[in-house]
Amino acid sequence: MRIVIDADDAGLQLKHDLVDHLETLGVEVIDLNYLGKTPDASYPEIGYNLAVRIKDQEYDRGILICGTGLGMAMIANKVETVYAGPCHDVYSAERLRKSNNAQVITMGARVVGVELAKTIVDAWLEAEFQGGSSKPKVETMHNLENQSFHPETEL
Ligand code: RB5
Repeated sequence: MRIVIDADDAGLQLKHDLVDHLETLGVEVIDLNYLGKTPDASYPEIGYNLAVRIKDQEYDRGILICGTGLGMAMIANKVETVYAGPCHDVYSAERLRKSNNAQVITMGARVVGVELAKTIVDAWLEAEFQGGSSKPKVETMHNLENQSFHPETEL
């Protein structure tokens, strides 16, 4: 699994803590470090840059961190075929994969402590889409997304 991570200024420390944590576990994670190349960037550009790479299938899963996790989720969800949700508890992180099949998790460094954030990321990485009764719901979401991006196509 190819995993990618990035953060805005509010999420930088938590991003570094999570990269260290994942590397300790032997999980390879690519830090896009958009801020390092573009110091004036804020969460929309940083989140968009990561989400486009998920859309292009350069990476399978992404972690985005800002102050609240909200702005990052909002911009990632603007990219076609990319699904993201903010998670500050383990149950939601599992359901984000098992029920919603989202590729991107977002977290707020001003909301969650570092130890909980590590546990949340671990749970999210271990979880997979469960299919079953969740499958038609996710398919409906994809169809409605397609209608939104391409209103000329039939539902
Ligand atoms: C700070 O720019 C803050 O607005 C940002 O990190 C994020 O919380 C937005 O959703």
